[in-house]
Amino acid sequence: MMIPCQRHLFDIPDDIAYFNCAYMSPLMKKVVAEGHKSVALKGQPWQISPPDFFSTPERARALFAQLINAQADDIAIIPSCSYGTATAANNLPINKGQEILVLQDQFPSHVYPWRELAADKDAEIITIPRGGNDGWTPRILAAITANTAIVALPHCHWTDGSLVDLVAVGRRCREVGAALAIDMTQSIAALPFDVAEIQPDFAVAAGYKWMMGPYSLGFMYVAPQHQDGRPLEHNWIARKDSENFAGLVDYKSEYQPGARRFDMGEGANFIPMPMAVAALEQLLEWGVAEIQQSLSVMTASIAERAAPLGLSASDPSMRAGHFLGLGFPGEVPASLPERLSQDGVYVSVRGQSMRVTPHLYNNEADIDRLIKVLSTAL
Ligand SMILES: Cc1ncc(COP(=O)(O)O)c(C=O)c1O
Repeated sequence: MMIPCQRHLFDIPDDIAYFNCAYMSPLMKKVVAEGHKSVALKGQPWQISPPDFFSTPERARALFAQLINAQADDIAIIPSCSYGTATAANNLPINKGQEILVLQDQFPSHVYPWRELAADKDAEIITIPRGGNDGWTPRILAAITANTAIVALPHCHWTDGSLVDLVAVGRRCREVGAALAIDMTQSIAALPFDVAEIQPDFAVAAGYKWMMGPYSLGFMYVAPQHQDGRPLEHNWIARKDSENFAGLVDYKSEYQPGARRFDMGEGANFIPMPMAVAALEQLLEWGVAEIQQSLSVMTASIAERAAPLGLSASDPSMRAGHFLGLGFPGEVPASLPERLSQDGVYVSVRGQSMRVTPHLYNNEADIDRLIKVLSTAL
């Protein structure tokens, strides 16, 4: 089902064509309003009571779980992709000489923690190269062997939206006993993701892009078999009975249930948390499959209209529908994003690809503006 344009929910002037959700989404007006309310609340802390440290985070945990077909117990609250990935790296077994697979040009927050782990354990990073018309998946599947300890991947590549078949990769990981650690930052809430089908060990997501939430708040799925692992840090809220503020110095070695032990310190996060809840509620109301379908139609139309300008898009079956990478016949013209922004068009360039990443706030007039400005700039 196609979702009609939702621009009225956002504060975007008519002369701005914002195609840069992969960089940072705008916030919905109601999410901004939640932020104002929660800042004001911190101005009057006598209105914040101990149960508030738990109720909104629990609501956010449950909503995020719903997005990926998990249980609230499987979800930890994290500040960033790098934090979640570091947690995964600390908890996945790997022996000397074993391999960690990543993609060429993968996002650094989902590379550096694996490099550190490989250096610590005398293990090896194997980088799957770009290339070929058959997409990433066949080359990933061929690279997974009995010597693979961890496969660390996104659902779609952050430079151009090229897609990975995570169901097939998950199946292959289980065949050889490798762990699967996913960065969902560029796909969460825009591309359907089902933990029951993919069966990842860990899956992390920063929340300020496709989740339309505030900066510095994300979520991490932890598979049940890893929920007795070691958190990065040791904060009071993650320990058993932390609801009882009077008993906090009755120190506990046990944790809160499920993945909550991995929550970051100050995970109660009074200001951003209600904002994330408001955004998640709206995303779930729209539906992830419906968002994907609606954005696929939009990117297909942009790809078609960009082709006569010499800009090429990959086969729609090889890329995520919400994420268009347009290739140039030669080098990407210098300062192109700055040139486009002078005319109110916002995209980004990553590597050799111009990322055009729309959301439900974009309309036909935005696409007209993009094409018109591109045709004068190129
Ligand atoms: C694929 C991907 N992962 C993660 C991030 C953000 O990482 P972090 O939350 O560690 O800042 C980005 C930001 O652009 C990204 O594109």
